[in-house]
Amino acid sequence: KNSEVEKIYEINILAARYFYSNLQQNGDKVKYLLDRGLDIKTIKRFGLGYSLNSYTSLLDYLKKKGYNEDLLLKAGLVLKGGKGYYDRFRNRIMFPVFDYKGRVIGFGGRVLDDSKPKYLNSPETPVFKKGTNLYGLNFVLKNGVPNDLIIVEGYMDCIKLHQHGVINTVASLGTALTKEQAKLIKRYCNNVYLCYDSDAAGKAATLRGIEVLHSEGLDIKIINIPKGKDPDEFINDYGVEEFKKLIQDALPAIEHLIMAAKSNKNLDNPRDRVMFIKEVVDILRILNDEVEVQAYAAKAYELTGIAPHVILEQLNIARKMKN
Ligand code: UTP
Ligand code: MN
Ligand code: MN
Ligand code: MN
Ligand code: MN
Repeated sequence: KNSEVEKIYEINILAARYFYSNLQQNGDKVKYLLDRGLDIKTIKRFGLGYSLNSYTSLLDYLKKKGYNEDLLLKAGLVLKGGKGYYDRFRNRIMFPVFDYKGRVIGFGGRVLDDSKPKYLNSPETPVFKKGTNLYGLNFVLKNGVPNDLIIVEGYMDCIKLHQHGVINTVASLGTALTKEQAKLIKRYCNNVYLCYDSDAAGKAATLRGIEVLHSEGLDIKIINIPKGKDPDEFINDYGVEEFKKLIQDALPAIEHLIMAAKSNKNLDNPRDRVMFIKEVVDILRILNDEVEVQAYAAKAYELTGIAPHVILEQLNIARKMKN
């Protein structure tokens, strides 16, 4: 059983090398990555590749290397259909997913056009468990134990930031951040910056991410990317120095949430003030430090004129309802 796991790691590294050499032989696919602002060195470092537009190329390659189809299926690299086995990843830009030790545990494959799904990922395998890994952590750790980590959503965000010298970046890869990922972070540092896409999905994921990270005792700041972009797009448009300013401007999670609640309201209007206080109470439920609660209740009072003790009463009611 253990040797099966070892074999899957072997298969994965062979597949990654195979995809890499395919990419090198397909200049138009390299061009796609260059056009997205990656350089040759980054493509190599992150082992980016290309899966051919074929149903059996990887299958044939790995079979020739002596691996049986059943094992390739377990590795998540092939699928089984009525007519036999065939490659899972076809005509996609391939991103090997490394674990913190730098072992290849799976892959993400991106289409080169607008077709769906945009990214296809390895399924759960004996070495690839969703939500237990942080993409890019192996590269972060090459520079020693970080003081803080920046968490982004996607492969391209993470790679682009590393290329531009923001080398403490990891990606949670789309899925909402898990408790296990928070624990993994906690092994290395106490401070995290959440930097999700500034679209509706990213905003929802930020909210859930804050709760998960906070429950593991991490200190969280939120990097707010303007104009509906993600970190990759922001850097393409404004450059890394502007991104570094966003890092400087990052607010502690609670303040970020309060500012976000305020942003779509007119606090001169009583009904908006009520809405705002309700949202603030909901946000303060995340906190378990009473001093912090008091400080933010005072802040909300400043903004609305609603007395801190009223806010705290509402908070107590909300806490009881939740239990
Ligand atoms: P996004 O939709 O924000 O994609 O998903 P992206 O990373 O900005 O993609 P590009 O820049 O267009 O290439 C964020 C992350 O969610 C996961 C991927 O890990 C992606 O990087 N995802 C997204 C999937 O797994 N499948 C999908 O179909 C879409
Ligand atoms: Mn997005
Ligand atoms: Mn993107
Ligand atoms: Mn994105
Ligand atoms: Mn996107």
